[in-house]
This record gives sequence, C-alpha cells and structure tokens, in this order.
Amino acid sequence: MIRVGLIGAGFIGRNHFNQYEKLGARARVVALCDLEPDRRAGDWSKVGGNVADTQGTKRDLGNIRQYADWKELLADPEVDMVDLCIPTYLHAEMAIAALKAGKHVLCEKPMALTVEDCDRMLEAARDAKGKFMVAQVIRFWPECVYLRNCITDQRYGALKALHLRRQASTPDYSWRSWILDPRNSGGALLDLHVHDVDWAIQLVGMPQAITAQGYQRTGGGIDRVTALWHCGPDRVVQLEGYWDMPAGFGFNMGFTAVFEKAAIVFDLASGKPLTVFRNGAAPETPKIEGEDGYYAEIEYFLSCAEKNENPQISTPQESRNAVAVALAEKQSILTGQTVRL
Ligand SMILES: NC(=O)c1ccc[n+]([C@@H]2O[C@H](COP(=O)([O-])OP(=O)(O)OC[C@H]3O[C@@H](n4cnc5c(N)ncnc54)[C@H](O)[C@@H]3O)[C@@H](O)[C@H]2O)c1
Repeated sequence: MIRVGLIGAGFIGRNHFNQYEKLGARARVVALCDLEPDRRAGDWSKVGGNVADTQGTKRDLGNIRQYADWKELLADPEVDMVDLCIPTYLHAEMAIAALKAGKHVLCEKPMALTVEDCDRMLEAARDAKGKFMVAQVIRFWPECVYLRNCITDQRYGALKALHLRRQASTPDYSWRSWILDPRNSGGALLDLHVHDVDWAIQLVGMPQAITAQGYQRTGGGIDRVTALWHCGPDRVVQLEGYWDMPAGFGFNMGFTAVFEKAAIVFDLASGKPLTVFRNGAAPETPKIEGEDGYYAEIEYFLSCAEKNENPQISTPQESRNAVAVALAEKQSILTGQTVRL
C-alpha cells in the first residue's frame, strides 16, 4: 500500500483523487493539501475544468489529513508519495523539496516553466530515494498507445506523416485564473501543446530543427502554435495547439497518422472512434484496449515505486526535453526563423 499525499485539489487534483479511489488496496490518499479550506475539506463545488467530474462535487474525506501548508504535508512521515497537482509555477520548488524529503513524486505536466528548473528537478531526482515521473498522460491514453504501437511494430509500414492537434477554448476555470498569466502557466504552448510535444518526442524522437508560427494573446503567452518538425527527408511532422477558440468550442484532441499502407485518424470531439483507412478496404475501427489514461499513468507510476524501478514509459529527461522543444518553438515563432536543435 502506497500512502499518497495529494497537493492541489483543483481540476486535475480532483481527477487524480478519483483514480486513487479506483486503485483499491494499491494506494490510498492519506493527506490532502490545498490553500483553500473548502477544497482541502472535500468541497469541490467551485473546482472547474474542461472535463466533468462524474463522482460529484462533495466528498467525505474521512480520515484524510488536511494541510494548508504543503511543507507540513512533506514532513508527514506517513506519506510515501506526493502527487503534485498545483499550478505550474510551483512544480519545481515542490518537486525538489518532496524528492529531498525522500518521497516518490508524481508531478503534473509541464515539468516546469524553464529548462533550468527542469534541470534542477532532474538533479534532485538523481540523488533521491524516491521515484520521479511527470504525469504525461497522453503517453498512457489508449488511442495514443494504439498509435504508438502501430508506429513501433510497423504493421502498416513506415510512418510518413504525423499531425497532432490539441484545440481548446480559452480556459476560464483555473484557481484565481493563474493559467491565463503566462508567467504562471507558460500559456497554451506549455500548458496545452506540451502534451503533444512530449508525445511526439516519444513517437518520432527529437526533431533536428523546428519552424513554427503562432501568436501571443492573453497576457503575452503563446496561445496558438503550428509547428513543423524537421525529422529527416521521409517524414512530415506537424503539431498544432491552441486555446484561442470561443467559449462554446470546448476541447478537442486528435491526430492523423499516414503510413505507407494506411492512415489513422482520431478526433475526440467528433465522437467517432479511432479509424484506420486503407485503400481497397472499408474503414476499420479497431478495439482500443486499455484503461483511462489518467488511471493508467498513476497505476504505472505506482508499479514503478512498488518495484523500485525508474519509469521508462515516460522519463523525466524526456519531459525536460519537451519543455526545451516547446520553448524552441516559441523562439521560432518570435524570431520568424527556423531553430536548430
Ligand atoms: N494532465 C492533464 O490533462 C492536466 C489537465 C489540467 C491541468 N494539468 C496541470 O495540473 C496542474 C494544476 O492545474 P489545474 O487545472 O488542476 O489547476 P486548478 O486551478 O484547477 O487547481 C489548482 C489548485 O492548486 C491549489 N493551490 C494553489 N497554490 C497552492 C499552494 N501553494 N499550496 C497548496 N495548494 C495550492 C489551488 O487552491 C487549486 O485548488 C497544472 O500544472 C496543469 O498544467 C494537467
């Protein structure tokens, strides 16, 4: 049984809490920290987000210890693992302190706002007793795992073109609107688009160079990015991420992958299942195996902690590289130049 201290009971903290409830005897949330008294007491009626919570908005937290100060939670000897679901500007400080306190640390994405902070986190993780992973949920999303397997086993031949997209209305739900200030969130580039940057690194490796276009909106952050990744002569890799859509749009994530012998298309908001198109055959909708991505990422990290193994599906170094590549895209947007990596 891994005893979990959850810091941040907002949109994603509430989601993670639900996953621990599903994990039964493997893990239990024993401590919860949030600055807001109602949130740390289990009243989540003011928590917003772009995905509804099916478990209701008020919870009886029973014997879960409640902390207003995250340093007190870190000092709790009955906490084995810390799950960081706090705004991004707090990731580096809290993750480093939690690793130094000997805890296992699962930290929400993006790893941090700067490469320097990511490097400090990597250094803390190298010397730590506990395991460390950034919660790159897309690597665990069933449709995304399916696509990765198709690329790896080449069942449709080599990958020729990849288009990843993540599209949203401007988020209006965060605690004190922290997300709209790019000094706190990194804008859509680091908050939203970084999901696909990290996933693309897993799928095609690091790009050799990047050409990106985009623009700054709310508070100067990059709110729209379209990036071409230069990955060699035989492959076209394009990523787009934005949260400049009007309120009614909501959220969509999707991808199109073109292989030598097939194309795979998925768009969450379309309501259609992932579909494989092949010449001379009717479109196929393969059965997509696997648990909810949030459940799967947490379950995987717990299994690493249980086995005393460093996470391999998502490594902190790759999460750091995702921040570096996203910031290279920003440099390309701001300079109008191709950036070599
Ligand atoms: N993986 C995903 O799909 C996903 C989705 C949403 C958010 N996130 C990431 O999760 C993190 C949190 O985002 P969110 O949407 O849950 O934000 P949120 O605004 O909904 O919640 C943040 C919570 O942190 C609390 N908090 C702030 N400062 C604190 C402090 N010093 N000590 C304790 N609690 C504090 C706030 O009271 C609030 O309850 C961000 O890094 C974000 O990028 C990831």
